[in-house]
Amino acid sequence: MNWTGKNIVLGVTGGIAAYKSAEVVSRLRHLGACVHVIMTKNATEFVAPLTFQTLSANAVVTDTFSAPEYWNVEHVALAKVADVFVIAPATANILAKMACGIADDMLSTTVLATKAPVLVAPAMNTGMWTAEATRQNVETLRKRGVRFVGPGTGILACGDEGAGRMSEPAEIVEKIGEILAGENDLAGLKVLVTAGATRERLDPVRFLTNDSSGKMGFALAEAARDRGAEVTLVKGSTTAPVPENVRIVAIESAADLLAAMKKETPKQDIVIQAAAVADYRPAAASKTKIKKKAGEPLTIVLEENPDIAKTIGKTKKQGQTFVGFAAETDHVIRHAEEKLAAKNLDMIVANDVTKPGAGFNTDTNIATLITKEAKKELPIMSKRQLADVILDEVLGLRI
Ligand code: CTP
Repeated sequence: MNWTGKNIVLGVTGGIAAYKSAEVVSRLRHLGACVHVIMTKNATEFVAPLTFQTLSANAVVTDTFSAPEYWNVEHVALAKVADVFVIAPATANILAKMACGIADDMLSTTVLATKAPVLVAPAMNTGMWTAEATRQNVETLRKRGVRFVGPGTGILACGDEGAGRMSEPAEIVEKIGEILAGENDLAGLKVLVTAGATRERLDPVRFLTNDSSGKMGFALAEAARDRGAEVTLVKGSTTAPVPENVRIVAIESAADLLAAMKKETPKQDIVIQAAAVADYRPAAASKTKIKKKAGEPLTIVLEENPDIAKTIGKTKKQGQTFVGFAAETDHVIRHAEEKLAAKNLDMIVANDVTKPGAGFNTDTNIATLITKEAKKELPIMSKRQLADVILDEVLGLRI
């Protein structure tokens, strides 16, 4: 990893662990990075700005009104310059401000404005870290793509024991290196992900659908976005929070999905189809609400939907990589291999949805990645982790 010329903006907030951040600066400088420090007012109560100024060899910014003159657009200059934006230590307060988009000092303003990947190293009392408000803020930030390092567990400055210790400087620097190295491995690539369930209309107030939450497709869209891809998310009905900073194409039925895919697929380098598509739709959708006929059974005739993956599989061009999913309950590998071939896919992500921790509506998944050449059985992992593994494999296939 070549650190020379990399700009790391380090936000320091008011916690006793602020003294450890001096070592973060020192390590980054030794590696050849350029470090810019922004301190909150409270941080300056713990460590003097001069410490960071000396170690970084750059002026330290402490509030919105004393920015150095060489800044072009004062409050966003560092936001633009950052290759990685790190906040260490990050107090519960800064996490809450970031989650809400509050910009009332230089650090919160700059981090709100940045497009760089953001890494936070929380440090606080265990009670504050485990408080429901902080939990929700962390969840919100993670969903937006903010990375976390730590906190670790141990004896805290207040004498309590538990989670809340800031990660060690070496670990924080390692994480920054990982972000810089992995950050842009999808840069320049267009990635399309389908997610969620289709809805097949029965009448104006009813439809047929399935249990898909959209979580797996969203995790893929977020991971691809974070790795520098230009992401199009073709989204059916979902219950999970929708990713930010991706282009969204909303669809309802399988027919809509097919139309969207015919239009969007030719422009893409990588197409990952995680949507749960209904195989059948009501043969005739009623324009008016179907009325109850007491005592009589209702028969709904279903007709087959197009197989979208199969249809677009036929249009695959040189340089395009297509990935599908196979949620199965039996003969998982055999069924998935048949789909890999039938739909002209380069890889299929097979999972046994009967296993606890796999399938619809969970935050984890247990998958086997199958290509024509190999099968890779993966352990249980979060959908976000699986998304990154899938993207790693896809990049491997494209070499
Ligand atoms: N798929 C699709 N169009 C359909 C059905 C599925 O594009 N009408 C895609 C899904 O997005 C997924 C893959 O094909 O990537 C496999 O979906 P799955 O429902 O497991 O397979 P089916 O082909 O529908 O087979 P079956 O339902 O019989 O298992």
